Amino acid sequence: MIPIVISFKIWYNKTNAVHNPALTLFKGEISMKFGYFDDARKEYVINSPKTPYPWINYLGNQGFFSLISNTAGGYCFYKDARLRRITRYRYNNVPIDMGGRYFYINDNGTIWNPGWSPVKTELDSYECRHGMGYTVITGKKNGLKAEVTFFVPQNYDGEVQQVVLTNESNEAKSFSIFSIAEWCLWDAQDDCTNFQRNFSTGRVEIEGSTIYHVTEYRDRRNHYAFYTVNDTIDGYDTDRDSFLGTIYNGWDNPETVKADKPSNSFADGWSPVASHYKKVTLAPGESKTLIYILGYAENPQDKKFASEKPANLLTRETWVLNKEKAYAMIEKYNTPEKVAAGLEELRNTWDSLLSIFNVHTPDDKVDRMVNIWNQYQCMVTFNLSRSASYFESGIGRGMGFRDSNQDILGFVHQIPERARERLIDIASTQLSDGGCYHQYQPLTKKGNADIGGDFSDDPLWMILSVASYIKETGDWGILDADVPFDDDPNGKHTMLEHLDVSFYHIVNNLGPHGLPLAMRADWNDCINLSCFSDTPGESFQTYTNPKFAAEGGYSKIAESAFVAALFTYTGPAYVGILKHIGKAAEADKAQAEIDKMKKNVMDSAFDGDWFIRAYDANGEKMGSKECEEGKIFIEPQGFAVMSEIGKDQGADIKTLNSIDKYLNCEFGLVLNNPAFTKYYIQYGEISTYPGGYKENAGIFTHNNAWIICAEAYAGRGDKAFEYYSKIAPAFTEETSDIHKTEPYVYGQMIGGKDAKNFGQGKNSWLTGTAAWNMVAISQYILGVKPDFDGLSIDPSIPAAWDGFTAVRKFRGATYNITIKNPNHVNKGVKSLTLDGKAIEGCVVPVCDGGVHEVEVVLG
Ligand code: BGC
Ligand code: NOJ
Repeated sequence: MIPIVISFKIWYNKTNAVHNPALTLFKGEISMKFGYFDDARKEYVINSPKTPYPWINYLGNQGFFSLISNTAGGYCFYKDARLRRITRYRYNNVPIDMGGRYFYINDNGTIWNPGWSPVKTELDSYECRHGMGYTVITGKKNGLKAEVTFFVPQNYDGEVQQVVLTNESNEAKSFSIFSIAEWCLWDAQDDCTNFQRNFSTGRVEIEGSTIYHVTEYRDRRNHYAFYTVNDTIDGYDTDRDSFLGTIYNGWDNPETVKADKPSNSFADGWSPVASHYKKVTLAPGESKTLIYILGYAENPQDKKFASEKPANLLTRETWVLNKEKAYAMIEKYNTPEKVAAGLEELRNTWDSLLSIFNVHTPDDKVDRMVNIWNQYQCMVTFNLSRSASYFESGIGRGMGFRDSNQDILGFVHQIPERARERLIDIASTQLSDGGCYHQYQPLTKKGNADIGGDFSDDPLWMILSVASYIKETGDWGILDADVPFDDDPNGKHTMLEHLDVSFYHIVNNLGPHGLPLAMRADWNDCINLSCFSDTPGESFQTYTNPKFAAEGGYSKIAESAFVAALFTYTGPAYVGILKHIGKAAEADKAQAEIDKMKKNVMDSAFDGDWFIRAYDANGEKMGSKECEEGKIFIEPQGFAVMSEIGKDQGADIKTLNSIDKYLNCEFGLVLNNPAFTKYYIQYGEISTYPGGYKENAGIFTHNNAWIICAEAYAGRGDKAFEYYSKIAPAFTEETSDIHKTEPYVYGQMIGGKDAKNFGQGKNSWLTGTAAWNMVAISQYILGVKPDFDGLSIDPSIPAAWDGFTAVRKFRGATYNITIKNPNHVNKGVKSLTLDGKAIEGCVVPVCDGGVHEVEVVLG
């Protein structure tokens, strides 16, 4: 299959070579990239607008967020992608990625966009630079250059768009520039469904060069949005269909732009937009900078309205919006100097975040993943969980309990205070018996009742994330923090109690083999052992068959070997915490439960060469040699190996070898094998996918990381690295046309060996892979791992490496770490020195500030 793709590519590139210098090919050369990494600037540079999928970036890391593609598609929201959507976006559009914040240039009849779309006039040159929290898109046409920098400044609820127009020709140029943003009527779900009401609610105000969006403001909302430019304008539009000219036009064909004449429309219902029109004349070599701001503000209830109506205000209302906050926001970034300072502040923020951990290894792809892009993605997943991406609509899901807990594992070192706050938010949605709401909305911080709970793995991730926070910070005080339970909101409870009930929620819910009950699903949302669904439309995650009603909603027979292994992997962290705070008896009791679980797994869930996946509701094995399809699953194996279940009988190496034999393929490890080819009603959603996609034998990168960790743990650094390099984005860059999604971030899934689109990435950005592969590469392969009492350093690297260096800031001190590998081993610390003094073992003690030299010799 792959050679066919390559030959197609050669043909494809040739036909595009004229307008696409990036893809120009010389005879016999194969290019499969659409850009390159600029590591010095921490940017990915895209040099063709026609990427195989929109390649996006995220702006904002606090309250205001934007998604922006390489052609400026995307949208903005405040805190909650569903409840507080600021600009409208139509997912599932044709062509894909239509709608965003666009600038149109009309240069004497030639109409073009700096980011090529939506008009798609071929540009003389195009470039998109996605950086840390900013994106710069530059287009050139007929001697005119337009460079647009998009970013959300720190502590600012708005997107700044700086447009620099430069006349690079030898003659004076007169042209016009139109901006456009389409407002969303706040609740993104309602906005795309409730047309009978929404087509009649839209309201705006216009004052000078600022267009305000005030739909529903008078009544029950205290927030508004605005779009402004720091110059006078020569016209505007605020009604979408007036801007487009007719209801039959799309964004690629706006009548006003073609006619070079705005219609100065005033929205009254329908779809309010904000468009500025500006005429510009530039002498040869001259530049002009325009600064646009798309902002959001909230007013206190008693300050919602202004008492006077300014003379230049255009409104249809009898009331006037209090615009003080907007004025202040506009003032903050209304000159190029202020914009430069805002960008500088953003750069400094990221430089400092990324200075906490960075490495220099023999492989520059590893360096760019670890030092830049993997950490950047961890911030994005921490902020947004699985809510808003080009594969998550932002209206379907809030923050996931298991997702957000895992996201913390890759993020905690960046801003531990925010991780702490998040841990408390998440834990507060937990129930007093240890059960958890599976999701919550970030704006309300309340568990989503319509999704409910009973996902068997959820509580365990909380133990892991709290432990990782303590290991990073040494802040044992979090255990005493006041954290209520959802069903006892006013009760006095501590974080430690949450850990207790999490641990015992597993122990108290065991099935016939002493393994944890599978409930609605465990980590794998698509293994639904209590569902038995035969009716279209039933959600596999929330529907449980009435036949289990009497048993409390789910089967008391179906058990998860995965949760068992996760329990034996996370349990020791809980035991470690108890020991540290002097609760020896509780620690022993918990340890006894872990030991018992290990025994139960070996007695009932080891299949000879690997661990089975589950017992289904009929008491049959799933993921066993006995099965016809789906004989082996990836999920339980890594945690079982790292818990050393059956290690004395060689279970760990047998298991790892089976994974290599059955799950390994060119682009990573598939989730199960053989893929299901039939619908198994007793398994649920997993068997609904065509083989090779998603949870049915797709390469689920998230749990590839668990095997990478396990291989490294077992000392097989070459294998760990092989698996790492199959899925790490920087390594997929060379095959971008096959991989399709961004080469700088992980996606949830890559088409597996059973798929027609083998190797094709999907669901990029919001995936637990970001955090887990950060853990896999930094803590398991490179081996720099925070522990309760210090920084453990125990690498498991490719034998060919001579070593590497790392800088790690940890609990107030900086460690300059040098790893030497003179004997070319995979693993094994022969000696470790701290500031020249030998240390026993591999844990560097906590130092009281300062800079310290650590030298480790492997052998
Ligand atoms: C997807 C899973 C996802 C789940 C919950 C399923 O359809 O395949 O990856 O976690 O839905 O939204
Ligand atoms: C994506 C979900 O966000 C995550 O919670 C789940 O573990 C995986 N899919 C696997 O089903």
